[in-house]
Amino acid sequence: MLNWKINSTHESNPSDAAYTEAVQAYQKTIGSPEIGFFNLPKNRELLAESVKVFERFKHKKYFIHVGIGGSALGPEMILKALGNRSGVEFVFVNNIDPDDLHRQLESVNLSEALIYVVSKSGTTAETVAAMSILIGQLEGAGVKEKDFKDYFVFCTDPVKGELRKLSSQWGVATLTIPSNVGGRFSVLTPVGFLPALFSGIDVQDILEGAEDIQRHLSDPKIGAEFFRLAFWLKDLHDKGIRQTVIMPYSSLLKEYSAWFVQLWAESLGKEGKGLTPIPAYGATDQHSQMQLFMEGPADKVLLLIEVENFSKDFSLKNSLSGESFKNLAPFKLSQLMKAEFEGTLMALRENGRHVVHLKMPAVQEEYLGQLILFAECLTVMVGNLLKVDPFNQPGVEAGKKFANAWLKNNQ
Ligand code: PA5
Repeated sequence: MLNWKINSTHESNPSDAAYTEAVQAYQKTIGSPEIGFFNLPKNRELLAESVKVFERFKHKKYFIHVGIGGSALGPEMILKALGNRSGVEFVFVNNIDPDDLHRQLESVNLSEALIYVVSKSGTTAETVAAMSILIGQLEGAGVKEKDFKDYFVFCTDPVKGELRKLSSQWGVATLTIPSNVGGRFSVLTPVGFLPALFSGIDVQDILEGAEDIQRHLSDPKIGAEFFRLAFWLKDLHDKGIRQTVIMPYSSLLKEYSAWFVQLWAESLGKEGKGLTPIPAYGATDQHSQMQLFMEGPADKVLLLIEVENFSKDFSLKNSLSGESFKNLAPFKLSQLMKAEFEGTLMALRENGRHVVHLKMPAVQEEYLGQLILFAECLTVMVGNLLKVDPFNQPGVEAGKKFANAWLKNNQ
């Protein structure tokens, strides 16, 4: 099971009354019918729907995932962490850079591709733009509208939005993002399931892992460590320590950092409050951002993730006489990673930095499920303590309005 420990000189001691009140408010949030993410691990119907669609299209050679923000970061994180174990080639169209899209589409044979368009709202400009381009390319290759159902699968809100409308008009298989699950909390829905199934990942195990940790993230006694962590982060926020470095010691979890950044920033950064996330990964960032984390402004909390077991390893045995080679010869590569992790942890502690040491037994389905639910619940608990709504994003909406106005004025 995932576990975590605070390494810091700061101690948080909320009164019993404050603790009880905050835990109850959080339990109310995660139990509310309007908030669906917490119960997703138990919902196997969404997986069953996704498996049906996978069975129908599993002959496809390319999987083009079209989506942005919460509709892309989660699936990319799962695939990078657990690996593509099938022969299917994946393309993530998650931006509107024309040069990049050209390059991406050059590597794809559209006649053998499944295009998975993911958008909760069904109206996001970047996603609609990419979809329009792909429709144009299919039409250019002679594909008729009546045959779009053989190329597209949609994933969207159960009732609302353009994709829902098109889905019935074209007869396109359409998976559901429950209406009470917002984009950045949607990775454990068909948003993440379908690409995971195409890459041979065991989705059931991800869900079981997430289910295993649920009680630790909701029960005031079993989850005391979790609630303490949220209070501690809130205390530090109030003292001006408002930057959160998320740093797994694993290349496979690099996209986890990217996913966490969206969750943490978009959920907590509002009304003048928030914790700025900084993505990093070890050991690579020890040769980059670590100098700043160690000796720069003391305004950061570091969430360091240690992977306890790697599934493969290398011996560093060698017969070279140079000091640096000789020193490493008795060890394995994973032991060097461990040494660097421990060394950094101790140095940060000595420098009085605030660290959370998360231990992940291995980068495997069940533990990734735990790491996902852990981050989502922590975001909500901290959001509640900061008294911000972790589920909205008014600041993003404001930018969209101006962009739409620009489009209208420049027609
Ligand atoms: O978390 C969110 O709600 C957003 O980041 C969305 O995921 C993002 O804006 C994409 O929206 P949609 O899925 O509606 O296309």
